[in-house]
Amino acid sequence: MNTDFRLFPETASTIAGRVDAVYLFLIALTAFFTLLIAGLIVFFAVRYRRGARVDRTKGHVSLWVEVSWMVAPLPVLLFIFFWSTNVYFAMQRPPAGAMEVGVVGKQWMWKIQQPGGRREINELHVPTGKAVRLTMISQDVIHSFYVPAFRVKQDVLPGRYTSLWFEATVPGEYHLFCAEYCGTDHSRMIGRVVVMSPSDYESWLSGSAADEPPAVAGQKLFEQMRCDGCHRGAEGVPSRGPPLEGLYGRPVPLTTGETVIADDNYLRESILLPTAKVVAGFQPIMPTFQGQISEEGVMQIVAYIKSLDEGGASRDDGP
Ligand code: CUA
Repeated sequence: MNTDFRLFPETASTIAGRVDAVYLFLIALTAFFTLLIAGLIVFFAVRYRRGARVDRTKGHVSLWVEVSWMVAPLPVLLFIFFWSTNVYFAMQRPPAGAMEVGVVGKQWMWKIQQPGGRREINELHVPTGKAVRLTMISQDVIHSFYVPAFRVKQDVLPGRYTSLWFEATVPGEYHLFCAEYCGTDHSRMIGRVVVMSPSDYESWLSGSAADEPPAVAGQKLFEQMRCDGCHRGAEGVPSRGPPLEGLYGRPVPLTTGETVIADDNYLRESILLPTAKVVAGFQPIMPTFQGQISEEGVMQIVAYIKSLDEGGASRDDGP
Protein backbone atom coordinates (compact mmCIF):
# COMPACT_ATOMS: atom_id res chain seq x y z
CA MET A 1 0.00 0.00 0.00
CA ASN A 2 1.13 3.48 -0.76
CA THR A 3 1.81 5.10 2.58
CA ASP A 4 3.15 8.48 1.52
CA PHE A 5 -0.30 9.99 1.28
CA ARG A 6 -0.39 13.31 -0.48
CA LEU A 7 -3.27 15.50 -1.52
CA PHE A 8 -1.56 16.62 -4.69
CA PRO A 9 0.65 14.77 -7.15
CA GLU A 10 4.17 16.08 -7.73
CA THR A 11 4.49 19.03 -10.06
CA ALA A 12 6.92 18.08 -12.79
CA SER A 13 5.98 19.76 -16.06
CA THR A 14 5.80 23.29 -17.39
CA ILE A 15 2.00 23.18 -17.64
CA ALA A 16 1.37 21.65 -14.19
CA GLY A 17 1.51 24.94 -12.27
CA ARG A 18 -0.92 26.60 -14.68
CA VAL A 19 -3.40 23.73 -14.43
CA ASP A 20 -3.16 23.79 -10.64
CA ALA A 21 -3.79 27.54 -10.56
CA VAL A 22 -7.09 27.13 -12.43
CA TYR A 23 -8.01 24.16 -10.28
CA LEU A 24 -7.27 25.89 -6.98
CA PHE A 25 -9.09 29.03 -8.10
CA LEU A 26 -12.21 26.95 -8.87
CA ILE A 27 -11.93 25.20 -5.51
CA ALA A 28 -11.55 28.52 -3.68
CA LEU A 29 -14.46 30.08 -5.58
CA THR A 30 -16.82 27.18 -4.93
CA ALA A 31 -15.69 26.93 -1.30
CA PHE A 32 -16.41 30.64 -0.84
CA PHE A 33 -19.94 30.42 -2.24
CA THR A 34 -20.67 27.12 -0.50
CA LEU A 35 -19.74 28.63 2.86
CA LEU A 36 -21.58 31.87 2.10
CA ILE A 37 -24.80 30.10 1.13
CA ALA A 38 -24.61 27.55 3.95
CA GLY A 39 -23.95 30.38 6.43
CA LEU A 40 -26.91 32.38 5.15
CA ILE A 41 -29.20 29.34 5.34
CA VAL A 42 -28.27 28.85 8.99
CA PHE A 43 -28.52 32.58 9.71
CA PHE A 44 -31.99 32.93 8.19
CA ALA A 45 -33.20 29.66 9.72
CA VAL A 46 -32.32 30.98 13.16
CA ARG A 47 -33.46 34.56 12.58
CA TYR A 48 -36.84 33.66 11.08
CA ARG A 49 -37.51 30.59 13.24
CA ARG A 50 -41.08 30.06 14.38
CA GLY A 51 -41.98 32.41 17.21
CA ALA A 52 -39.14 34.86 16.60
CA ARG A 53 -40.25 38.47 16.85
CA VAL A 54 -39.11 39.74 13.45
CA ASP A 55 -40.69 41.74 10.65
CA ARG A 56 -42.13 39.28 8.12
CA THR A 57 -43.89 41.77 5.86
CA LYS A 58 -41.05 42.27 3.35
CA GLY A 59 -41.60 39.02 1.50
CA HIS A 60 -40.44 40.16 -1.92
CA VAL A 61 -37.04 41.04 -3.38
CA SER A 62 -36.51 44.12 -5.55
CA LEU A 63 -35.85 43.82 -9.26
CA TRP A 64 -32.44 45.40 -8.75
CA VAL A 65 -31.33 42.56 -6.47
CA GLU A 66 -32.65 39.95 -8.93
CA VAL A 67 -30.75 41.49 -11.83
CA SER A 68 -27.52 41.98 -9.89
CA TRP A 69 -27.16 38.36 -8.84
CA MET A 70 -27.69 37.26 -12.38
CA VAL A 71 -25.27 39.76 -13.89
CA ALA A 72 -22.53 39.71 -11.26
CA PRO A 73 -21.37 36.12 -11.94
CA LEU A 74 -21.01 36.83 -15.66
CA PRO A 75 -17.59 38.54 -15.56
CA VAL A 76 -16.35 35.89 -13.11
CA LEU A 77 -17.44 33.09 -15.42
CA LEU A 78 -16.00 34.82 -18.48
CA PHE A 79 -12.75 35.27 -16.62
CA ILE A 80 -12.65 31.52 -15.85
CA PHE A 81 -13.56 30.75 -19.46
CA PHE A 82 -10.78 32.81 -21.02
CA TRP A 83 -8.21 31.75 -18.44
CA SER A 84 -8.88 28.01 -18.70
CA THR A 85 -9.19 28.17 -22.50
CA ASN A 86 -5.79 29.80 -22.61
CA VAL A 87 -4.31 26.96 -20.56
CA TYR A 88 -6.14 24.39 -22.67
CA PHE A 89 -4.78 25.86 -25.91
CA ALA A 90 -1.26 25.80 -24.48
CA MET A 91 -1.75 22.09 -23.70
CA GLN A 92 -3.08 21.34 -27.19
CA ARG A 93 -0.36 23.08 -29.19
CA PRO A 94 3.08 21.53 -29.03
CA PRO A 95 5.91 23.97 -29.73
CA ALA A 96 7.81 23.50 -32.97
CA GLY A 97 10.76 21.15 -32.77
CA ALA A 98 9.23 18.91 -30.10
CA MET A 99 10.75 15.46 -29.65
CA GLU A 100 8.45 12.96 -31.42
CA VAL A 101 7.57 9.81 -29.52
CA GLY A 102 5.24 7.09 -30.80
CA VAL A 103 2.88 5.35 -28.39
CA VAL A 104 0.75 2.29 -29.14
CA GLY A 105 -1.69 1.21 -26.46
CA LYS A 106 -3.09 -2.30 -26.30
CA GLN A 107 -4.69 -4.56 -23.75
CA TRP A 108 -2.80 -4.13 -21.46
CA MET A 109 0.43 -2.36 -22.08
CA TRP A 110 2.02 0.73 -23.52
CA LYS A 111 4.45 0.27 -26.38
CA ILE A 112 6.64 3.30 -26.84
CA GLN A 113 9.23 4.23 -29.44
CA GLN A 114 11.79 6.97 -28.94
CA PRO A 115 12.59 9.25 -31.90
CA GLY A 116 15.95 7.51 -32.33
CA GLY A 117 14.20 4.14 -32.55
CA ARG A 118 14.71 2.74 -29.07
CA ARG A 119 11.66 0.84 -27.88
CA GLU A 120 10.22 0.71 -24.39
CA ILE A 121 7.34 -1.15 -22.77
CA ASN A 122 5.39 0.62 -20.02
CA GLU A 123 8.24 3.07 -19.65
CA LEU A 124 9.01 6.40 -21.18
CA HIS A 125 12.35 8.11 -20.70
CA VAL A 126 12.49 11.82 -21.42
CA PRO A 127 14.97 14.63 -20.76
CA THR A 128 14.07 17.74 -18.81
CA GLY A 129 13.69 21.05 -20.62
CA LYS A 130 12.61 19.51 -23.91
CA ALA A 131 9.09 19.52 -25.31
CA VAL A 132 7.95 15.96 -26.00
CA ARG A 133 5.10 15.21 -28.35
CA LEU A 134 3.42 11.83 -28.18
CA THR A 135 1.55 10.52 -31.20
CA MET A 136 -0.68 7.79 -29.87
CA ILE A 137 -2.98 5.10 -31.19
CA SER A 138 -4.65 2.02 -29.80
CA GLN A 139 -4.47 -1.43 -31.29
CA ASP A 140 -7.78 -2.50 -29.74
CA VAL A 141 -10.04 -0.50 -27.41
CA ILE A 142 -9.95 3.01 -26.00
CA HIS A 143 -7.18 3.66 -23.50
CA SER A 144 -6.04 6.90 -21.95
CA PHE A 145 -2.50 8.10 -21.35
CA TYR A 146 -2.34 9.83 -18.00
CA VAL A 147 0.64 11.28 -16.15
CA PRO A 148 -0.67 13.02 -13.02
CA ALA A 149 2.66 14.69 -12.22
CA PHE A 150 2.53 16.43 -15.61
CA ARG A 151 -1.24 17.14 -15.37
CA VAL A 152 -1.76 15.70 -18.83
CA LYS A 153 -4.23 13.06 -19.97
CA GLN A 154 -5.33 12.09 -23.44
CA ASP A 155 -7.55 9.31 -24.72
CA VAL A 156 -5.81 6.83 -26.99
CA LEU A 157 -8.23 5.65 -29.66
CA PRO A 158 -8.32 2.78 -32.12
CA GLY A 159 -8.31 3.96 -35.74
CA ARG A 160 -7.12 7.50 -35.20
CA TYR A 161 -4.04 9.26 -33.87
CA THR A 162 -4.35 11.53 -30.90
CA SER A 163 -1.48 13.49 -29.47
CA LEU A 164 -0.29 14.99 -26.26
CA TRP A 165 2.70 17.09 -25.37
CA PHE A 166 4.53 18.11 -22.23
CA GLU A 167 7.85 19.45 -21.10
CA ALA A 168 9.19 17.78 -17.97
CA THR A 169 10.95 19.99 -15.46
CA VAL A 170 12.08 17.83 -12.55
CA PRO A 171 14.14 14.61 -12.87
CA GLY A 172 12.47 11.66 -11.21
CA GLU A 173 10.09 8.77 -11.77
CA TYR A 174 6.42 9.44 -12.23
CA HIS A 175 3.33 7.30 -12.52
CA LEU A 176 1.87 6.53 -15.90
CA PHE A 177 -1.71 5.29 -15.79
CA CYS A 178 -4.28 4.08 -18.24
CA ALA A 179 -7.23 6.29 -17.34
CA GLU A 180 -9.93 4.64 -19.42
CA TYR A 181 -11.49 1.37 -18.33
CA CYS A 182 -10.27 -1.07 -20.98
CA GLY A 183 -11.00 -4.55 -19.69
CA THR A 184 -9.85 -7.10 -17.14
CA ASP A 185 -6.34 -5.82 -16.53
CA HIS A 186 -7.04 -2.12 -16.94
CA SER A 187 -5.78 -1.48 -13.43
CA ARG A 188 -2.47 -3.10 -14.32
CA MET A 189 -1.97 -1.04 -17.44
CA ILE A 190 0.46 1.17 -15.62
CA GLY A 191 4.01 2.27 -16.11
CA ARG A 192 6.42 5.01 -15.32
CA VAL A 193 7.81 8.09 -16.93
CA VAL A 194 11.48 8.53 -16.12
CA VAL A 195 12.59 12.15 -16.36
CA MET A 196 16.35 12.60 -16.64
CA SER A 197 18.73 15.48 -17.04
CA PRO A 198 19.64 15.92 -20.73
CA SER A 199 23.10 14.41 -20.16
CA ASP A 200 21.71 11.40 -18.28
CA TYR A 201 19.17 10.94 -21.03
CA GLU A 202 21.90 10.95 -23.66
CA SER A 203 23.89 8.33 -21.80
CA TRP A 204 20.74 6.26 -21.28
CA LEU A 205 20.10 6.39 -25.03
CA SER A 206 23.65 5.44 -25.93
CA GLY A 207 23.66 2.62 -23.39
CA SER A 208 21.46 0.41 -25.53
CA ALA A 209 21.75 -1.51 -28.74
CA ALA A 210 20.66 0.93 -31.41
CA ASP A 211 17.24 0.28 -32.92
CA GLU A 212 16.43 1.69 -36.29
CA PRO A 213 14.92 5.17 -36.24
CA PRO A 214 11.22 5.00 -37.19
CA ALA A 215 11.80 6.72 -40.54
CA VAL A 216 14.45 4.16 -41.53
CA ALA A 217 12.26 1.22 -40.50
CA GLY A 218 9.43 2.95 -42.36
CA GLN A 219 11.44 3.17 -45.55
CA LYS A 220 12.14 -0.57 -45.41
CA LEU A 221 8.45 -1.34 -44.94
CA PHE A 222 7.61 1.10 -47.73
CA GLU A 223 9.83 -0.82 -50.11
CA GLN A 224 8.81 -4.22 -48.76
CA MET A 225 5.13 -3.39 -49.36
CA ARG A 226 6.07 -2.20 -52.87
CA CYS A 227 4.71 1.29 -52.25
CA ASP A 228 7.58 2.69 -54.29
CA GLY A 229 6.23 0.95 -57.39
CA CYS A 230 3.48 3.55 -57.70
CA HIS A 231 4.64 6.42 -55.52
CA ARG A 232 8.11 6.74 -56.94
CA GLY A 233 7.81 6.77 -60.72
CA ALA A 234 10.82 6.20 -62.92
CA GLU A 235 12.49 9.28 -64.44
CA GLY A 236 10.17 11.03 -66.84
CA VAL A 237 7.29 8.58 -66.35
CA PRO A 238 4.29 9.93 -64.42
CA SER A 239 3.74 7.76 -61.37
CA ARG A 240 0.41 6.04 -60.76
CA GLY A 241 0.21 7.31 -57.21
CA PRO A 242 0.70 10.84 -55.93
CA PRO A 243 4.31 11.74 -55.11
CA LEU A 244 5.03 11.81 -51.40
CA GLU A 245 8.01 14.17 -51.26
CA GLY A 246 7.29 17.28 -49.24
CA LEU A 247 3.71 16.07 -48.78
CA TYR A 248 3.49 16.20 -44.99
CA GLY A 249 1.59 19.18 -43.63
CA ARG A 250 0.56 20.36 -47.11
CA PRO A 251 -3.00 20.84 -48.40
CA VAL A 252 -4.09 18.05 -50.74
CA PRO A 253 -6.87 18.55 -53.34
CA LEU A 254 -9.21 15.56 -53.58
CA THR A 255 -11.33 14.23 -56.44
CA THR A 256 -14.41 15.40 -54.51
CA GLY A 257 -13.20 19.00 -54.77
CA GLU A 258 -12.40 19.15 -51.09
CA THR A 259 -8.98 19.94 -49.74
CA VAL A 260 -7.45 18.20 -46.74
CA ILE A 261 -4.20 18.72 -44.86
CA ALA A 262 -1.74 15.84 -45.10
CA ASP A 263 -1.34 15.24 -41.38
CA ASP A 264 -0.64 12.01 -39.52
CA ASN A 265 -4.26 10.90 -39.55
CA TYR A 266 -4.65 11.58 -43.27
CA LEU A 267 -1.51 9.58 -44.10
CA ARG A 268 -2.61 6.70 -41.87
CA GLU A 269 -6.06 6.59 -43.44
CA SER A 270 -4.60 6.74 -46.93
CA ILE A 271 -2.45 3.70 -46.20
CA LEU A 272 -5.23 1.63 -44.62
CA LEU A 273 -8.28 2.90 -46.53
CA PRO A 274 -6.84 4.40 -49.71
CA THR A 275 -10.20 4.98 -51.39
CA ALA A 276 -11.55 7.13 -48.54
CA LYS A 277 -9.81 10.25 -49.84
CA VAL A 278 -8.54 10.04 -53.41
CA VAL A 279 -6.16 12.74 -54.56
CA ALA A 280 -7.41 14.80 -57.51
CA GLY A 281 -5.97 13.57 -60.80
CA PHE A 282 -5.44 9.97 -59.62
CA GLN A 283 -7.47 6.79 -59.90
CA PRO A 284 -8.63 4.86 -56.81
CA ILE A 285 -6.43 1.91 -57.67
CA MET A 286 -4.40 1.57 -54.50
CA PRO A 287 -5.10 -1.63 -52.55
CA THR A 288 -5.86 -1.45 -48.86
CA PHE A 289 -3.15 -2.34 -46.38
CA GLN A 290 -5.59 -2.85 -43.55
CA GLY A 291 -4.58 -5.85 -41.46
CA GLN A 292 -1.22 -6.16 -43.24
CA ILE A 293 0.75 -3.60 -41.30
CA SER A 294 0.81 -3.20 -37.53
CA GLU A 295 0.08 0.17 -35.97
CA GLU A 296 3.80 0.51 -35.24
CA GLY A 297 4.50 -0.20 -38.89
CA VAL A 298 2.02 2.44 -40.04
CA MET A 299 3.62 4.92 -37.64
CA GLN A 300 7.01 4.12 -39.13
CA ILE A 301 5.81 4.59 -42.70
CA VAL A 302 4.24 7.90 -41.68
CA ALA A 303 7.57 8.87 -40.10
CA TYR A 304 9.28 7.98 -43.36
CA ILE A 305 6.86 10.04 -45.45
CA LYS A 306 7.34 12.96 -43.03
CA SER A 307 11.08 12.68 -43.55
CA LEU A 308 10.81 13.03 -47.34
CA ASP A 309 11.90 16.41 -48.59
CA GLU A 310 10.89 18.02 -51.84
CA GLY A 311 13.96 16.65 -53.59
CA GLY A 312 13.12 13.08 -52.55
CA ALA A 313 16.05 12.85 -50.15
CA SER A 314 15.48 11.74 -46.60
CA ARG A 315 15.47 14.70 -44.21
CA ASP A 316 17.36 14.34 -40.95
CA ASP A 317 14.60 14.20 -38.40
CA GLY A 318 16.89 13.85 -35.36
CA PRO A 319 15.56 13.84 -31.81
CU1 CUA B 1 -5.92 0.64 -21.05
CU2 CUA B 1 -7.38 1.08 -19.24
